[in-house]
Amino acid sequence: MPTRYAFFEGAIVPIEQARISIMTHSFNYGTGCFEGLRGYWNEEEQQLFVFRMPEHYQRLHRSCRIIHCKLGYTVEELCNITIDLLRHEGFHEDCYIRPIVYKADLGIGVRLHNLRDAFAIFCTPFGRYVEQEENCHACVSSWRRLDDNAIPPRGKIIGAYVNSALCKTDAALSGFDEAIVLTEDGHVSEGSAENLFLVRQGHLVTSGVNENILEGITRATLMELARTELGIDTEVRSIDRTELYQADEVFFCGTGMQVVAVTQIDHRPIGSGRMGPVTQKLRDLYYDVVRGRMPQYRKWCTAVY
Ligand SMILES: Cc1ncc(COP(=O)(O)O)c(C=O)c1O
Repeated sequence: MPTRYAFFEGAIVPIEQARISIMTHSFNYGTGCFEGLRGYWNEEEQQLFVFRMPEHYQRLHRSCRIIHCKLGYTVEELCNITIDLLRHEGFHEDCYIRPIVYKADLGIGVRLHNLRDAFAIFCTPFGRYVEQEENCHACVSSWRRLDDNAIPPRGKIIGAYVNSALCKTDAALSGFDEAIVLTEDGHVSEGSAENLFLVRQGHLVTSGVNENILEGITRATLMELARTELGIDTEVRSIDRTELYQADEVFFCGTGMQVVAVTQIDHRPIGSGRMGPVTQKLRDLYYDVVRGRMPQYRKWCTAVY
């Protein structure tokens, strides 16, 4: 089913009416921030579940603070608008939800202040973000991750995604599925648009929030699932590049990516060169949780219908 509606200028309208001018500030300068959520279709229950919706809108509010955006809706209002829009769409399949806050004034002048903020959402049917979910070949990008004092990756800021796009495209044009991005001081930050974990001697390792990562909701989810369901702790610390090559397992995670096994990095097989047991278990758990199939985690799933 195609995308038919959007929330735009305070109302749900046919998608064709959700248009902005080429003079829009955000279109010219990347001045805005956004979120990415997923809706998961549960066939048995004939229900669509949005995963961790309040957490995504809390993060949107936090992103807004960095770039002087006034969102104008509470988290609860944003959740209600999203449900309303999804009911209009009537999806009976997995989908992606894209809320955007943007500087909507028309005209020239680089700044963040004295500009009108607008808010929009569109949703679209969505399956896999990468083809190789079980067997992803990644490279370490020659591009470096943006710094908190340049364009803060902690906020999901529109303009910052040129950094992600440079990493992703160079990786793809060189024949890799994804890129791993290092910070200016050479530690592992994250993937082009997803967080990264290693499995090392039975526990998980992931970069800390001071490594210019986006503080991922999937990252937090997987740490909790690993601890509670599998008894596996996560070490949060700086990761060296060569730890990647020596890891038993590596995986990417994010709302779009979901959980993706990285089986080769810079032409070196990771562990056995196949998806490892910890990644497999976490991945299976994650897919059950997001579809509302584990009662103890239903609190993370908002039913649409
Ligand atoms: C740069 C970046 N890192 C990490 C993530 C993963 O975050 P989340 O799990 O909240 O989707 C995303 C996706 O939103 C991202 O764009």
